[in-house]
Amino acid sequence: MSRYVINGGNRLYGETLIQGSKNSILPILAATVLIKGETVISNCPDISDVDATIRILSYLGCKVTRDGHTVTVDSTTVDKFDIPDDLMREMRSSVVFLGAIIGRTGKACLSTPGGCEIGLRPIDLHLDAIQRFGVNIHEEFAKIDFEVVKPLEGVNISLSFPSVGATENIILTACTAKGTTVITNAAREPEISDLADFLNSCGARISGTGEGTIIIEGVKELHSAQYRVIPDRIVATTYMAAAAMTHGKIHLKSVIPAHLAPVIPVFEEAGCDISISSSSVTLTAPPYLRSIKTIRTMPYPGFPTDMQAQIMAMTTVCHGTSVIIETIFESRYKHVSEMLRFGAKIRVDGRMAVVEGTPDLTGASVIASDLRGGASLVLAGLAAQGTTTVDDIKYILRGYENMSGVLTSLGCDIVKEERNTANGGDRQS
Ligand code: UD1
Repeated sequence: MSRYVINGGNRLYGETLIQGSKNSILPILAATVLIKGETVISNCPDISDVDATIRILSYLGCKVTRDGHTVTVDSTTVDKFDIPDDLMREMRSSVVFLGAIIGRTGKACLSTPGGCEIGLRPIDLHLDAIQRFGVNIHEEFAKIDFEVVKPLEGVNISLSFPSVGATENIILTACTAKGTTVITNAAREPEISDLADFLNSCGARISGTGEGTIIIEGVKELHSAQYRVIPDRIVATTYMAAAAMTHGKIHLKSVIPAHLAPVIPVFEEAGCDISISSSSVTLTAPPYLRSIKTIRTMPYPGFPTDMQAQIMAMTTVCHGTSVIIETIFESRYKHVSEMLRFGAKIRVDGRMAVVEGTPDLTGASVIASDLRGGASLVLAGLAAQGTTTVDDIKYILRGYENMSGVLTSLGCDIVKEERNTANGGDRQS
């Protein structure tokens, strides 16, 4: 078990390159299953969710090699169509393999994903959509079998909610189906466009991503390609929040500023100065942060649920009261009880959290319970006076590459410690 030990109070200052996007690389790696050939993906982040995805690819029969941030996948030899329960459990988003496995092998067998750290994650929208392609679905004993009984044919699908994962699964199923598939009320996240750009570079014909309606004209087969994954907008904004909370200044290199548009107004409302160039963003924090009136998480281009916890950490040190409303996931406030240990003043009522800013957070012993919530505790530790320990950082390592190294290079005092599990997780209150 490993943990971060942080001595807070240092001003974050400097520049950093932003890693490749977790939410892009996972579906793109899954998509390689559709390709009978070798695909080379660059800007692949070194995070544990990528390790888990590669384990699934290898199980399915793909040959995967990794050289720094470049991953090469040869899917010529795919010879399985199931994902064992232990691999499914490692990562909830492994459900995104569904469309690719069906498209490649004509069948699939997955275990049902249950609850996870941020609440139930049903897959009814995925299943409804897959069924529309004429796939037979049989569910028994927490296992779901899928079988293509006649060649896949394009369909019109209107999603009742713009689910990111369901949109990705539909795209992956439709790529090599006969005819045209149209998705209305599709998710508009930049990672969906990245998946489509990757598939188009392999010969797919997908248009309309980034808007509400996506059109996929099925092609016979996909071919090998080389592709670079987009930068991670959530990692970028996490470090912006860290700079804001420590009254610092950060220059983010290798970002796509348009992808940060939903969060930039929030930093400006808090009094930060933001300057933008074609591929970089600089945030300069004021001596005192102002509170944020209301933040409501929404599907893109709304404020991302994946930044809710980190912005909450920021509002704990703003002057005045901020209100946060989480509309995407029903149980995404697990970080709140840990934040209270820093002296933060937060009240939660259902999906609403009211945060009264306080000038002084005090270092605390806390435990991460999910990826972004864990990141928010690191941010609180950076701003707090004294020493903070964040345990169970395996969640943070799912999505942040070398977080302690990046923050150290920016002037923060944070080290990653490996702990003996015999007394790991013990709190020192
Ligand atoms: C993706 C992201 C995750 C982000 C989320 C919302 C990846 C790997 N993960 O997750 O980081 O927080 O989008 O932006 O890209 N839902 C249903 N039925 C379904 C599918 C979803 O009810 O079949 C509900 C979910 O429970 C949740 C909401 O829809 O409340 C959003 O889920 P979805 O957009 O599908 O998120 P993920 O693809 O799981």
